[in-house]
Amino acid sequence: MLNIRYELTKNPKQLPGKDDPLKFGTIFTDHMFIMNYETGKGWFDPRVVPYQPVVLDPSAMVFHYGQEVFEGLKAYKTEDGRTLLFRPDMNAKRENNSNRRLCIPEIPEEDFVQAVKAVVKTDEKWIPTKPGTSLYIRPFIIATDPFLGVRPSDTYQFIIILSPVGAYYPEGLNPVKIWIEDDYVRAVRGGIGETKTGGNYVASMAAQMKAHEEGYSQVLWLDGVERKYIEEVGAMNIFFKINGKVLTPKLNGSILPGITRNTCLELCREWGYPVEERKISVDELYEASVNGSMEEVWGTGTAAVISPVGHLRFEDKVMQIKDGGIGELSQKLYDTVTGIQLGKIKDTRGWTVEVK
Ligand code: PLP
Ligand code: COI
Repeated sequence: MLNIRYELTKNPKQLPGKDDPLKFGTIFTDHMFIMNYETGKGWFDPRVVPYQPVVLDPSAMVFHYGQEVFEGLKAYKTEDGRTLLFRPDMNAKRENNSNRRLCIPEIPEEDFVQAVKAVVKTDEKWIPTKPGTSLYIRPFIIATDPFLGVRPSDTYQFIIILSPVGAYYPEGLNPVKIWIEDDYVRAVRGGIGETKTGGNYVASMAAQMKAHEEGYSQVLWLDGVERKYIEEVGAMNIFFKINGKVLTPKLNGSILPGITRNTCLELCREWGYPVEERKISVDELYEASVNGSMEEVWGTGTAAVISPVGHLRFEDKVMQIKDGGIGELSQKLYDTVTGIQLGKIKDTRGWTVEVK
């Protein structure tokens, strides 16, 4: 259990207006959480402080070798005024998995969740209530040793910042167009693909720029070895409904194990759909699109929620998904997941955690 100290701001910012579109990731709240680490001492001085710049030595290791991890989750306001988190224990576990791979000290799961609750409670009034909005929570850890040389740092900072957000994609619930990348790769098995670390995202940017130039909003990655099998999208996992079956790529070490992915798999199984987590080749998708058995495609992610895909392109092959609208199962998943997150649907699985 952390003994958190509080230093509250004397200059609170103005809250966004009710009709502010809350462009994703642009507005930050009044406070942040910080905790330090030193080898031999462990994590210490957990505190909620006014949102402020982080001052680091220019030789801090994070700037040079990318030793950092991050997470993403959201807080939601229910109609009766409660504040809910969705499966924060899964973020705590995933962060520790990333930490182990990147030689960063772990944080006890209960401390991670306590820290998230503490800062969210402090800035509770920033949680927006308009449909489709929420408070995005970004925990991250950075290596801070002032040292030029490749080895794990001996000092770190764990920080949590908060951002009231609307939809991640400007398309909202309208289907997105996705480019299947055939040249660049994002990750390979044995690398860092299954961790949430900046390196995976910077590796994706050149392809994303290329996709944007072609009029596509996101990149769908193929495996880095055979360049044949579907992996995931830049900021979400991917699902297909083909011939009544729900398919998603199996976790193989190079894909991020998404919490929304896990949630959708559990729901689809519970609803009686045949579900397969396996290798899916781009050829199989093209064939399903040509023979009419491709029924729905959607992405899943904390930021993206359930995001319908209307159009996929691989080299010169274009796959138009049905009529380009949101599919029946995608809509049901969206309604159920957001319904549970917002406390409108009874949570029978212990997925929501109230911030009191
Ligand atoms: N894949 C990548 C690369 C992501 O950045 C994200 C977002 O966190 C996801 C998948 C979806 O994961 P989650 O559902 O846990 O947000
Ligand atoms: C998330 O869904 O939490 C993400 O990390 C996506 C993105 C903002 C990088």
